[in-house]
Amino acid sequence: MSGHARTSVRVGVEIAGSGACLPSRRLTNNDLVSMMDTSDEWIVQRTGIRERRVYDPKVEGTADLAIGAARAAIADAGMKPTDIDLVIVGTMTPDAPTPGVASVVAARIGAGHVGAMDVNGACCGFVFSLNVAHDMINSGGYKSIVVIGADTITRFCDFTTAGRNVAVLFGDAAAAIVLRVNQDPSIGLLAQAMHSDGEGARNLFVPGRELDFPPNVEYAPEKIHRIYMDGQAVFKFAVGTFPKLIEQTLEKAGLAADDVDHYVCHQSNYRILNSARERFGLSPEKLSVNIDRYGNTVGASVPLVFDELRKSGRIHPGQKVMFLAFGAGLTWGSSLWQL
Ligand code: UT7
Repeated sequence: MSGHARTSVRVGVEIAGSGACLPSRRLTNNDLVSMMDTSDEWIVQRTGIRERRVYDPKVEGTADLAIGAARAAIADAGMKPTDIDLVIVGTMTPDAPTPGVASVVAARIGAGHVGAMDVNGACCGFVFSLNVAHDMINSGGYKSIVVIGADTITRFCDFTTAGRNVAVLFGDAAAAIVLRVNQDPSIGLLAQAMHSDGEGARNLFVPGRELDFPPNVEYAPEKIHRIYMDGQAVFKFAVGTFPKLIEQTLEKAGLAADDVDHYVCHQSNYRILNSARERFGLSPEKLSVNIDRYGNTVGASVPLVFDELRKSGRIHPGQKVMFLAFGAGLTWGSSLWQL
């Protein structure tokens, strides 16, 4: 049953399961060398990426990956698709303007006529969706929500030398978690933050038409539907924003950096993650990195890290987990959980 009556009773929200779905095609840095003027050494040194997965548009899309991730997460929670009463997908690369990815997922996993919506927050799509989903359960409206991050961003990359500064960074993936009502009200969100800066989008955007080009970027027809990124400007934004976001979220929850067991971070560059580790004195166990194997998978990046942690037995009840992302929009956001 979808859309239960809203009540003033606050309940707990648990993370009941997680899952991921990756395209089978692997593209290593050396594969890229045969497509453009680049090198394994340049990519590893500047980003930490060694390989990424790339979808095959002839046989799969964002929805297919999202469906795989949703099914895996629902099974991991020991639930059935019919137990789910809302599907939310964080994505900036739906297969088509309509239907939304979430509608396709709800139908194809067999969830029935439940609510389904996409959230376009680029790399923050999953974290924003998680915050929305938490409050939908916490306020008594829904019981079980599958939250998915799914993107096939490589379709907006130019795999020639002209696009090398962007194409080497990205990969395709989907990952999901299932949120479920829990009678213990101490379980769930402790603090969250969501931000945007539309002006900053001039440094990271995907133009759909000539009018979308800001004054700092010269229009050319071949740049339509290709990611434009001023790497250094975005790097500066990320390195500056990341610690502020962590501090702001800790302060809201009244916690110290060390009180958090896992910082589950958007994977856009190893050097950005490492600067946060150094700033807060975090061990590699507290801030996991998987960018070496997947690159930047946009909305899938954060839940993909969480799923790996969970599958490796490092997520336990009682822990505190901070999900963090920043990216195009520009957007940045956090979600701090008591498990
Ligand atoms: O979720 C989206 C968020 N995006 C990000 O977080 C990205 C943030 N930015 C970055 O991670 C870095 O800026 C990059 C990894 C994208 C680039 O690193 P950089 O140290 O800022 O390099 P650069 O753009 O300043 O380029 C340095 C040189 C240039 O050559 P010249 O002008 O010095 O001769 C580039 O043409 O590296 C060249 N270059 C490459 N060389 C080999 C750019 N891309 C490549 C490449 N392979 N793929």
